[in-house]
Amino acid sequence: MRQRVSFSLTLPLTLLLLLCVYESRGGSVRNTEAIAPDISSTVNPQPFLPLLAPSPLTAFTNYSIPKLSGLCTLNFSAAGNMMSVTATDCWASFAPLLADVVCCPQFDATLATLIGQSSKYSRMLALNVTHAKYCLSDVEKILEGQGANENIQKICSIEPETLTGASCPVTEVDTFESTVDSSKLLGACRKVDLVNECCDQVCENAILDAARTIAAIGMPNSKGVNLLPEHSTRIDDCKNIVLRWLASNLDPSSANKVLRGLSNCKVNKGQHKNRKRKEN
Ligand SMILES: *[C@@H]1O[C@H](CO)[C@@H](O)[C@H](O)[C@H]1NC(C)=O
Ligand SMILES: *[C@@H]1O[C@H](CO)[C@@H](O)[C@H](O)[C@H]1NC(C)=O
Ligand SMILES: *[C@@H]1O[C@H](CO)[C@@H](O)[C@H](O)[C@H]1NC(C)=O
Repeated sequence: MRQRVSFSLTLPLTLLLLLCVYESRGGSVRNTEAIAPDISSTVNPQPFLPLLAPSPLTAFTNYSIPKLSGLCTLNFSAAGNMMSVTATDCWASFAPLLADVVCCPQFDATLATLIGQSSKYSRMLALNVTHAKYCLSDVEKILEGQGANENIQKICSIEPETLTGASCPVTEVDTFESTVDSSKLLGACRKVDLVNECCDQVCENAILDAARTIAAIGMPNSKGVNLLPEHSTRIDDCKNIVLRWLASNLDPSSANKVLRGLSNCKVNKGQHKNRKRKEN
């Protein structure tokens, strides 16, 4: 059942995004139908993404309690049921197949939410390196205990550094909030309408704005933001900080929806390209 929640976000969105992409390129609906003939037959639309999910119950038939480091201060219950959704989305042998589409976006969203929720108390939007190592290992153990693939860290290329501030100069909540127009950011991202988001990227752009603003801190002049290239590691690292701040200002289930929605927009674009490439 949990699986269905994740997929229900992904599948209709793929169809709508296709429409959105073709409309914005001036393609007609006939064009779209030629590529996606099943859009018109609403009776049983064919999914564009593989539906290889295991039975959701399988993952929970033998729930083992993992041995944790005791050195991670993240509150694992503060992420609501995101951990078990992630375990299902990254279920054992299916994880590599669904990595970019389902497992890793959910894993990323969970990490952002865990750190975001803990920032309410720690006032920090990043873990230090030592802390990050223990926490990542603990998160993995909990997920494995619930049936997730044991190589999730490798599959999703997550290093402990991913949980730190990396090259982003702002990690404290107070600095973040005094630098960024946080009500504007929250306004753009509190509710992400997936179709509009994939077409117009309202929340994605607000996140990028905020990331560029904090990335510019400590740059040579006050217009440092102009010195940063469009895509830099520093901005990407700051985007992680922004996502954690967002997750701390939403309840876990809304945070999950927003974060997954944002990555679905990206995944579906990538997926579309991949499909094209495979067909050729
Ligand atoms: C659950 O897993 C443990 C360890 O792998 C095993 O010893 C136990 O018998 C399993 N329990 C069930 C109900 O399958
Ligand atoms: C952890 O989070 C849960 C759910 O939000 C909360 O009820 C609990 O008090 C938190 N525990 C600690 C130690 O902060
Ligand atoms: C890392 O963070 C933890 C928890 O906030 C703290 O106890 C520890 O001293 C920090 N370690 C370093 C090396 O800063």
